[in-house]
Amino acid sequence: ESITVLAPATVANVVCGFDVLGFALNEPNDTMHLRLTEQPGVTIINEDDYDLPTEPTRNVAGAALLALLRAVPEPVGIEVRINKAIRPGSGIGSSAASAAGAVVGANRLLGERFSKAELVDFAMYGEEVASGVRHADNIAPAIYGGVTLIRATTPFPDIVPLSAPPLFVTVVHPQIEVKTSHARQILKQQVPLKDAIRQWGNVGALVAGLLQSDYDLIGRSLEDVIIEPVRSILIPGFAEVKEGSRLAGALGGGISGSGPSLFMLSREEATAQAVEAVMREVYTGLGLDHHTYLTTIN
Ligand code: HSE
Repeated sequence: ESITVLAPATVANVVCGFDVLGFALNEPNDTMHLRLTEQPGVTIINEDDYDLPTEPTRNVAGAALLALLRAVPEPVGIEVRINKAIRPGSGIGSSAASAAGAVVGANRLLGERFSKAELVDFAMYGEEVASGVRHADNIAPAIYGGVTLIRATTPFPDIVPLSAPPLFVTVVHPQIEVKTSHARQILKQQVPLKDAIRQWGNVGALVAGLLQSDYDLIGRSLEDVIIEPVRSILIPGFAEVKEGSRLAGALGGGISGSGPSLFMLSREEATAQAVEAVMREVYTGLGLDHHTYLTTIN
């Protein structure tokens, strides 16, 4: 028996919700094929050109599967073949897609014995391999779909799925390298109280805006006074994309996860197309190779 899983790209942080908010995109998706094998353990086969490690402890899908197998009493063997469409290092949850897709697929092969929160817990071991940090803001939306709030990850993932009104998402991935580990190291470890107040006001209001389909409130809440001022320095064209997108009518947006991708939310598809044009213009002007995606929240 073999099954196929589509693992979606995700946008973590959603501007103000560092490590606690994320949403899944309708595209791009990784395609993963999984089957049980006679030989116990984990076998990774990369069917794409990204040259990712196949040693299970060094592979994000492998590390997630090993965590899941530790919770299975009987000896089990799982083979996973991975076709990545989400570029590694793009900032739209490439590693999370591999880790999430692997545990969702394995759970299906094993008769759906684990809850979604347990799968998040296993998949976070994959994120640890990728960036050294067990954050769940890409994993949780990849597993639950839609928009998710991560209230806490310890002692166990406490994930709150949020409803949201229709939103178009425009993403641009400029071809520069930003490592999540580096993009975390440069953050300040202390936050002034006045910034914290502004930030949790925005997070609360963004959640309310999503639940109440209040597009204006969503737009006002897409503000980050803590992380963005530090990280945006790593991304050429950031200010131009943000400013141009707002002028084109986007509700707002910012860095996707730790970057380098940027994302913008729009209420109308035509606006999202205008935003895509802005993004292309900025990066063509800077002479930087880039990819854009125009999609919706999954
Ligand atoms: N919340 C994480 C960060 C996401 O911003 O570092 C990384 O994809």
